[in-house]
Amino acid sequence: MRTILLAYLAICITTTAAFAPPAFGLGALFRPPNIKIIKSDGIRLEEAGKFFVDAFWTGKVGGGADTLSPKQAFQLERQQVAEFNKRYRRRAAKQSGRLPGNYAGQSLDSSSELVLCVNGSDEVIGCAGVEVSRIKKMDGYDSSFSGPLMSNLAISRKYRRKGLAEDLVKAAENIARREWGYDDCYLYVEKRNTPAIKLYQKLGYKSIWEDDSATTLLPTGDGRIANGKTTIVCMKKRIGAGLFGNLFG
Ligand SMILES: *[C@@H]1O[C@H](CO)[C@@H](O)[C@H](O)[C@H]1NC(C)=O
Repeated sequence: MRTILLAYLAICITTTAAFAPPAFGLGALFRPPNIKIIKSDGIRLEEAGKFFVDAFWTGKVGGGADTLSPKQAFQLERQQVAEFNKRYRRRAAKQSGRLPGNYAGQSLDSSSELVLCVNGSDEVIGCAGVEVSRIKKMDGYDSSFSGPLMSNLAISRKYRRKGLAEDLVKAAENIARREWGYDDCYLYVEKRNTPAIKLYQKLGYKSIWEDDSATTLLPTGDGRIANGKTTIVCMKKRIGAGLFGNLFG
């Protein structure tokens, strides 16, 4: 009896894995219709930056602001759009000199990507970034190494608890593994953001170090944007080939 049950489970698991579209997990079962996960390809960054301020900064854990004042929103949007442009805009390739005319400078810098979740009217309702970055080691020597770092994960309040964050994380991991060839993925998260930490743990991330000397910006209840102390947790997940990676990944 037990073996039959196990065999049955094995079939279910492999079937789900084999037939699910690559970027989507079990969350796909509960996803509202017409929602898509797409790459920003370096465009729509202004739209994404504004979305991010609304979804992430408003009511940020540890801050005192349930809604942002117009001044806070303006200031944060300007900073966030600049930040997204710096990280995810396509930069001209260094060796573009040999390409003719219009193609010169159009080669894509492929080591950073912002993945977007858009709804039926093509509006951004979620995002996640991934980029090859220096990752700190916390070994007492201030050393670092190069690896894919996931960041800027946010889902619009209206669309939470539908598995979309999981889909965005998986899409970002797929880019790091399939397009850039990495076996591990990393992220930094604030320790007090327990919902986020729980989500990452569920998706296979494990804490590798904590830094309690970090600072973060927080919108306050009285309309300012203050600098606050926080503890950053670095988490890591093995996304490499493994036993089933190439078959079902
Ligand atoms: C898409 O999201 C936007 C922003 O939340 C909303 O105004 C719009 O009605 C949504 N469209 C659909 C088709 O749900």
